[in-house]
Amino acid sequence: MEIYLVGGAVRDGRLGIPVKDHDWVVVGATPETMKKKGYRQVGADFPVFLHPKTGEEYALARTERKQGRGYHGFTVYSAPDVTLEEDLNRRDLTINAMAEREDGTLVDPFNGLTDLEQKTLRHVSDAFAEDPLRILRTARFAARFHPLGFTICPQTMTLMRDMIGDGELEHLVPERVWQEIQRALHEKSPGVFFQVLQELGALAILAPELADTECFEAGLQALQCISVQNSSSAQRFAALLSAVPEHKASALAKAMKSPNECRDLTRLTCLFAERFSIDTGTPLPAKAVLELFDQADLWRRPERFEQLLETLICTPHKTHAEPLRLAARSATGVSPQELLNQGFKGKELGTAIRNERLMRITQVLTP
Ligand code: CTP
Repeated sequence: MEIYLVGGAVRDGRLGIPVKDHDWVVVGATPETMKKKGYRQVGADFPVFLHPKTGEEYALARTERKQGRGYHGFTVYSAPDVTLEEDLNRRDLTINAMAEREDGTLVDPFNGLTDLEQKTLRHVSDAFAEDPLRILRTARFAARFHPLGFTICPQTMTLMRDMIGDGELEHLVPERVWQEIQRALHEKSPGVFFQVLQELGALAILAPELADTECFEAGLQALQCISVQNSSSAQRFAALLSAVPEHKASALAKAMKSPNECRDLTRLTCLFAERFSIDTGTPLPAKAVLELFDQADLWRRPERFEQLLETLICTPHKTHAEPLRLAARSATGVSPQELLNQGFKGKELGTAIRNERLMRITQVLTP
């Protein structure tokens, strides 16, 4: 049996960037030989094994053919007669379809190295079209390698457009789409991911609320600003959707099955952007600010409120962030205990807390 290093490790090694994990392909072996050698099989019907010592993944060479539409319905064929080239042929991009022998020499039947040198993202074969997730993966690699000068080659763009025209994206489950989006948000140039999808017409299908040109351009700018900071996925996602009307942004975040923190921060960011006009020099209305604090549950979630402010700084509303921070600091200083000691209780106590908070906010916001 022969063992080859494949995929991301070969690509990143040749690019001279740190290799995260090593994936291996085994040619000429059966599950029985692997188990005899001490490898542990993972997944019942899938020929992937874990190395007894390193825990790295060793997959038996396989071919995959799609039967149904969308992401389901793959027939996997794995046997000792499947060649390395056949295994590489089923992969997405040429730069991901190179292999290395144990002595470090390259096996590169699809000219991945040339594409790596020419900074081109190119599909390996027509088999690319069998997996619509690859449209998102390709956009994500474009976002990752954009600072290095990589672009997607025209033929691959055409192929992806055809796939989208065939309705392939509609078969992706929201969880898989979200997983790619979440990863894309943390790539080096996250905006490029969404630009590629916009150019392909994929955004209009996956996130129509965002595809509107004005919302999209404003969102890209906000995302660019927040992504150069050490920001969370929630902040990046909220920044991207910051110019979308709140009800639409919230509906999209829910439909995408994004995690609660992403949904909440998106809702708050869009609520704020919708309610308060871009700085006109007039102070923010104290009552509306108190309402926002309540909606953001500033009282119990001060760290999330801080995340909201950091996100707002990346939108056209940035000048409001500092007054809001000061108002929040002052309003959270209201002590229910003191008001209790003064004799307020029940409903009256609630009103007294609210009045005190409102007074403090007004004080801070009045020039
Ligand atoms: N692959 C593919 N099509 C997919 C998923 C994966 O062809 N839908 C292939 C590619 O050859 C890829 C390899 O499987 O290189 C491993 O996939 P994965 O670990 O997801 O990607 P990496 O290329 O290792 O990239 P990353 O650095 O993001 O882990």
